[in-house]
Amino acid sequence: MNSLNPDNTKTIRLLASNPCDLDQASDFLRRGGIVAMPTETVYGLAAHGFSAEAIARVFRAKDRPLNNPLILHTNSAERAFEFFDFSNNELAQKRFFKLADAFWPGPLTVIAKKTRHVPALATGNLPSVAVRIPDNRATNAVMANLDFPLVMPSANLSTRPSPTTAEHVLNTLNGRIDAVIDDGVCIVGIESTVIHIEPEEVKILRPGIITSHQLESCLQEPVRYANGHAEQPLSPGQSFLHYSPKVSSVACFNVESIVPWSEDTIILARACDYAQLAKKQGARKSAAVTILLSDDPSEFAKELYDALYRCELRPEKNLAIIVPREQGELWRAILDRLLRTKR
Ligand code: TXA
Ligand code: MG
Repeated sequence: MNSLNPDNTKTIRLLASNPCDLDQASDFLRRGGIVAMPTETVYGLAAHGFSAEAIARVFRAKDRPLNNPLILHTNSAERAFEFFDFSNNELAQKRFFKLADAFWPGPLTVIAKKTRHVPALATGNLPSVAVRIPDNRATNAVMANLDFPLVMPSANLSTRPSPTTAEHVLNTLNGRIDAVIDDGVCIVGIESTVIHIEPEEVKILRPGIITSHQLESCLQEPVRYANGHAEQPLSPGQSFLHYSPKVSSVACFNVESIVPWSEDTIILARACDYAQLAKKQGARKSAAVTILLSDDPSEFAKELYDALYRCELRPEKNLAIIVPREQGELWRAILDRLLRTKR
């Protein structure tokens, strides 16, 4: 790594509560460094959003394909507005300000046509750009010190689960990035809802905790999910293997599946699903270990990636995920992640 920190084999751990540490993070970022930063959703890997060299370092550190575009993060709607080209599209501009007012800072990423000064490398050469204002005191304090936006993909090696603690970040990126700002556990736990403002309508490209109902009541118009069609995924990141823990095999089942669990299997399930499973087929006896997650979707979302990283520390080779069968948009967002953990 072409590191900015004096001991270039290690990533420096900075503390979110220490103003001097936040100044050091700002300094790294001004000099083209890459720093993992907390957000309310997951930790992001930040770099100077208008420096092609710094952006290239992010792609390299994560082993991320260059055609998978990044989200620009900033700390005000006025700054965010400057990255978009709403000329000849007054309706799109109105939608943008309504959404910004209602949901920022918060777990919503907005995509629309970009202006020419947004670097092509950040957007995978697409004509659009993704922008978000995160809701984290330390990260927003760092951004307030900078006169440029930050690109911030999730701070994990490509294909691995997103990090919700500084330890998770170091699991895959230690020695590959300059620093991580430790702010404990992320309160949401899964990535932001990603929406695309198109001239005719607003579509959800990635489900998250902000739901279509919330978006519809803000915009007073229908908002639908883009995937589930035969059409090409609109968000390149949606088509790759994702969220996958480093164990030999991952398989998804529903609670009705009758499967002879081997002793080499970790079962990951909601507490209520596991109880049903154990009653039916005595799963408790055969599986080597069980990791139980909350029955409540917000809590489940918050616990999920930590559970996946915990599996990596276990000696068992196989992971069996019992996928919750629930209606509701938050479960839909969770399922979107669970079904792409498979190896
Ligand atoms: O919560 C989050 O959004 C986190 C935190 C750190 O802010 N960030 C995050 O970034 O999840 P990343 O890079 O891991 O996921 C961004 C997603 C990818 O699926 C990418 O393909 C999509 O957004 N994306 C970015 N720009 C796009 C664009 N112009 N058009 C379509 N999809 C885009
Ligand atoms: Mg990611």
